[in-house]
Amino acid sequence: MRVLHVTGEVAPYSKTGGLGDVLGALPAAQRALGLHVEVLTPLYGFVRRQGLIAGETYDFHLGSHALQARLWRTPDAHVTFVDIPGLLDRSVPYGEFADNPLRFGAFCKVASIVARRDFDVVNLHDWQAAATAIYLDRSRPVVQTIHNLAYQGLCGFHWADALDIPHVLRGYDGMEFHGHLSLFKAGLVLADRITTVSPRYAQEILTEPGGQQLSGLLSHRAHDLRGILNGIDAGAWDPMHDTHLRHRFDADHLDARLANRDALLAEAGLPPTGGPVFGVVSRATWQKGLDLVADVLPSSHLWHSRFVLLADGDHDLIARFRGLAHGFPDRVSIRMGFDEGFARRIYGGADFILVPSRFEPCGLTQMFGMRYGAIPIVRATGGLADTVRDGETGLSFFDPHPGALHHALERAVALHDAPETERVVRRAGMAQDWSWAGPAREYARLYAEMIGTAPPV
Ligand code: ADP
Ligand code: GLC
Repeated sequence: MRVLHVTGEVAPYSKTGGLGDVLGALPAAQRALGLHVEVLTPLYGFVRRQGLIAGETYDFHLGSHALQARLWRTPDAHVTFVDIPGLLDRSVPYGEFADNPLRFGAFCKVASIVARRDFDVVNLHDWQAAATAIYLDRSRPVVQTIHNLAYQGLCGFHWADALDIPHVLRGYDGMEFHGHLSLFKAGLVLADRITTVSPRYAQEILTEPGGQQLSGLLSHRAHDLRGILNGIDAGAWDPMHDTHLRHRFDADHLDARLANRDALLAEAGLPPTGGPVFGVVSRATWQKGLDLVADVLPSSHLWHSRFVLLADGDHDLIARFRGLAHGFPDRVSIRMGFDEGFARRIYGGADFILVPSRFEPCGLTQMFGMRYGAIPIVRATGGLADTVRDGETGLSFFDPHPGALHHALERAVALHDAPETERVVRRAGMAQDWSWAGPAREYARLYAEMIGTAPPV
């Protein structure tokens, strides 16, 4: 079975969040089951071309635009990059570019050409890939995977002609969304199957507010909707072999982990003595609930706890944390930006990792945290609820309010004051199996069901 994944990002070439991690790891696990799997993604300006092999070129039309695309492949042909000069080769993947509909419409048009050429199943990821379903025009079985409904690829209706959107798709039962055009809706309406990245999120999107105003359509499609929990790449994320860590460790060598905590505190400019260290690795957006952390931080001095934050995004929120770091220099340290090495040192050194999301389709940070021995403290929503067992592998709370987070932090402090129990919880988290093998099999079963072949054994 030949499967093509179409995605806006794939690690290690491009990554703004978990989508990149997923597409960097799931295909290998699918290949291990005997599937032929390739990934198609844009050739952004920041992707190194050195070592890529030039492939076919395509001349094609989209609305009144005559465009040309060239394909570039990794030597193993696992990843194919689409180069459309002037459109895709920008310094950031998505940004606020006014021509994003054309950029990703053109990418999807090329994806449809590649898919028609020699693939049996096409798996689209999020809004960036969703328009591929339009151009495939039901010529191939399509799975639309929802990683995050909050980003829908909305644009003005004037794009309908420029993107060759058929008239039957321009109504409310097609791509129309409150007077706008939703690229994501193309995939949600046309795909043969829809998946989400956790079973709980598949339920949450059937009602509001989880459905982001698409709960009606998604309920209508509930029969074709399935939640498949993400995994993580246990090889690429292994505290025993992670070169970003000062000291390598596993569940039987937690002393080395303590040394990492000291190194983390030194790197963050915080004192080595005191209570628990809470880590945050996150995009700074409303979704992630970091404002709740900012709300409770001023009272944290009561507990002698320290906070190490790595956050990228909302400037107002980051300015707020900067103010807190200024006010509590011994307690709070914030680094702004995207820093993979520092993220790994937080997972491998903090006592707890905070994920207070308002909603979370799956979430990988709590899984990385558990794998690296940082006990997750999560709001029980979406994939966070599916992966963290309160009191066993982590701590969870329900209300997205500072009081509930405050209470969870108090529980964490109490746990930290009982080192034996804390070690049991830490080890239980580290012992969880988040490998992609199981999820890869579930995707394979879904594909087999669609094309009527026997699933892999
Ligand atoms: P989302 O995709 O919604 O951002 P996930 O938890 O699925 O959330 O994935 C986030 C991914 O991005 C993880 O690999 C995490 O380590 C990484 N990440 C998030 N913020 C940062 C940051 N500021 N610097 C480095 N890595 C980050
Ligand atoms: C999205 C979601 C996150 C999920 C990731 C990978 O970015 O916000 O919860 O883990 O996609 O599926």
